[in-house]
Amino acid sequence: MKLSVYLGEKLAGYLESTAEKGVVFFYDTAYIKAGQPPISLSLPLSNAEFSQKDCLPFFEGLLPEGDVKKRISDYLHISETSTFKLLKELGGECAGMVSILPEGESNKAKSAYAFSRDNYEPLSEKKLAEYIQNINTRPLLKIKEKLRLSLAGAQEKLPLAYINGKYYLPKNGAPSTHILKPTGSGKLSNLAANEYICTKLAKYSGLPTSKTELKQIGYTEFLLIERYDRISENNQISRIHQEDICQALGILSDRKYQNDGGPSIADIYNLLKEKTTIPLIETRNFLRYIIFNLIIGNCDAHGKNYSLLFQGNTIQLAPIYDTVSTIIYPDLTRKLSMKVGKHYEFKKINSEDFVLLAGQLNLKPKTILDCYFETIEKIEKNFDKVKNDSALIGHEKTIEIIEKNILRID
Ligand SMILES: Nc1ncnc2c1ncn2[C@@H]1O[C@H](COP(=O)(O)OP(=O)(O)OP(=O)(O)O)[C@@H](O)[C@H]1O
Ligand SMILES: [Mg+2]
Repeated sequence: MKLSVYLGEKLAGYLESTAEKGVVFFYDTAYIKAGQPPISLSLPLSNAEFSQKDCLPFFEGLLPEGDVKKRISDYLHISETSTFKLLKELGGECAGMVSILPEGESNKAKSAYAFSRDNYEPLSEKKLAEYIQNINTRPLLKIKEKLRLSLAGAQEKLPLAYINGKYYLPKNGAPSTHILKPTGSGKLSNLAANEYICTKLAKYSGLPTSKTELKQIGYTEFLLIERYDRISENNQISRIHQEDICQALGILSDRKYQNDGGPSIADIYNLLKEKTTIPLIETRNFLRYIIFNLIIGNCDAHGKNYSLLFQGNTIQLAPIYDTVSTIIYPDLTRKLSMKVGKHYEFKKINSEDFVLLAGQLNLKPKTILDCYFETIEKIEKNFDKVKNDSALIGHEKTIEIIEKNILRID
């Protein structure tokens, strides 16, 4: 059984499920001949077939993770280990420019899609709120039988289009424009507000971020995040390619934490140095992301929470995303996703760790320390703006706890 893998309108290759070798991927010969870009840094153009071990990190990395993956697999009656079958069901609209289509659906692969009734189905606020409230019985990615949507991550989410203040579900292979993330439940009921606050702080600190809104329909709260891998122009919507660092390095999503075999800060730094178009800018930005996530107490900034964006012939670091102060939740781990200097423990990080990190990155200690002091100054200065944000009325306590917990070192 084969699935066609498209990059935009171009047929890039095939994903095949075989009895002997498991899942394999191979590029289409015409695609190679035309000198088209590889779909992943971990899958360079080649006439040779990529084994399951080599191709799975990219393809499995397109799918949801953890409980969301389990629930959607149960819902679809598919084993959660069957990447091939899950992609067959979900892989139409993914992160970046890839679409995985059953053979015979090539007409759905286009470089741009008109914003028309053929491609976008209106979704009322009432229906949307209903879908969010029923998450436990029906996963958001499958609120309709025909939808084939996928995104990585362990939180429920729904890729949709949000145009002129109205919601739409994409169809016929059309791209979404936004990602909806419902807030958590129980002790995590302020999760959406937390991510909103941290994203605003990142923006005010001068980091590239996606436009993010904290929204409510009745009592249902969620984040509405503009996708940085989509472009809306002249009533046409198109995709830009991206992949996360684990996909680029060929690391499976269940290995995303450094302690489990995932990338370290130095691994990502070196990848950016080697592969991006302007390494000086991208490595500098990455350092600012790392320091920002540390200061706000994000212990979940793993290798799938940093991505590369491929636009034209350029490779750059994607805007910062999924930035949350996890340290404010006593029940969540206080262990960092990536070691800083000698420590994984958030509470133990000190200036000596920054000096060690500088050594690992071939930087002067002053570069990292200056980055820390500049960033914390901006964060502290901008808490006032966050406190005056009308979207955060009712979330004063969350702002206060995040502020109280930021990483202060001398
Ligand atoms: N603004 C954005 N534009 C485009 N793609 C995005 C954006 N934000 C997130 N993504 C993509 O969606 C994936 C999942 O998003 P995100 O990390 O926010 O989800 P999550 O479920 O909270 O993740 P985690 O499991 O790390 O908690 C990301 O890995 C990235 O590929
Ligand atoms: Mg994430």
